[in-house]
Amino acid sequence: MGYYHTVALMLFLHFTTRRLVSQVYCGLKTASAKKQRTCYEMARPSSNMAEFREIFAKAKHITIITGAGVSAESGVPTFRGAGGYWRKWQAQDLATPGAFAKNPSRVWEFYHYRRELMMTKHPNPAHIAMAECEARLNRQGRSVVVITQNIDELHRKAGTKHLLEIHGSLFKTRCTSCGNVTANYKSPICPALAGKGAPDPDAEDTRIPVEDLPRCDDCNGLLRPHVVWFGETLDSDVFTEVEKELEICDLCLVVGTSSLVNPAAMFAPHVSARGVPVAEFNMQSTPATDKFRFHFQGPCGTTLPPALARHETELIS
Ligand SMILES: *[C@@H]1O[C@H](CO)[C@@H](O)[C@H](O)[C@H]1NC(C)=O
Repeated sequence: MGYYHTVALMLFLHFTTRRLVSQVYCGLKTASAKKQRTCYEMARPSSNMAEFREIFAKAKHITIITGAGVSAESGVPTFRGAGGYWRKWQAQDLATPGAFAKNPSRVWEFYHYRRELMMTKHPNPAHIAMAECEARLNRQGRSVVVITQNIDELHRKAGTKHLLEIHGSLFKTRCTSCGNVTANYKSPICPALAGKGAPDPDAEDTRIPVEDLPRCDDCNGLLRPHVVWFGETLDSDVFTEVEKELEICDLCLVVGTSSLVNPAAMFAPHVSARGVPVAEFNMQSTPATDKFRFHFQGPCGTTLPPALARHETELIS
């Protein structure tokens, strides 16, 4: 995944390298046994909700990083891992610039299918808890931002206003000629794709002529989904905003993914290195070497709503 490497490099340029390195080596160094134990004890994540709620009550800038697990709880397929196929391909076979160059019709059929599928999917209690928390805290002069790798817009549907979609959106197009990015909720996105995109392995692979695929209203160039594909870099404007949010946040939540895997792994360690508490909400069991403050295991639709509910010290609800 080339773009993660590029981003990791950018982070090295933007954050102090010393901090990053000391984070990475915590617990790995063959220092004195005593020092190792201290590091390990400090690293032990807590699952004490009351303690989390105390920190939550005081936080003024909350950053929430969300991943595939939040979408999965709404039944959104990722087309990755066991059983995650569209016809005989997985996302990593089709979500690439090479696949689009070779067969734009097939790639558009895949994205058309994913767009249409979203009509039957709805935000779950985790999405709603985040959106409600944002609206409530905004009225108290506090901020909540959601940084997501999910491209399905379920956060937007739930009512999240301050949203950074680092991997783009199924419902945006970008012109391959003029670069125009436009929101697009048409169904079907173009007449030629009507009734296409069946996911069955034996479905017909129609080659729609390239002039009948989605085209730009301005210059008639070929449109592509405005999503970050394998081998591509994150949008630099979005990245700059993400960086700004990470620098000001005083509480960071990692939801439906692990802070040890991308994209959260790119961001959470820097926040943690500033001494800011990081709380994970996911299905994973606690990694023994985890260096983050809290870990709440289980479906985030169950664990997140009570965590983000109004705290008794909040005067305005
Ligand atoms: C992009 O395309 C839309 C729709 O055609 C148009 O309204 C908008 O002005 C374009 N934006 C730019 C920056 O060219």
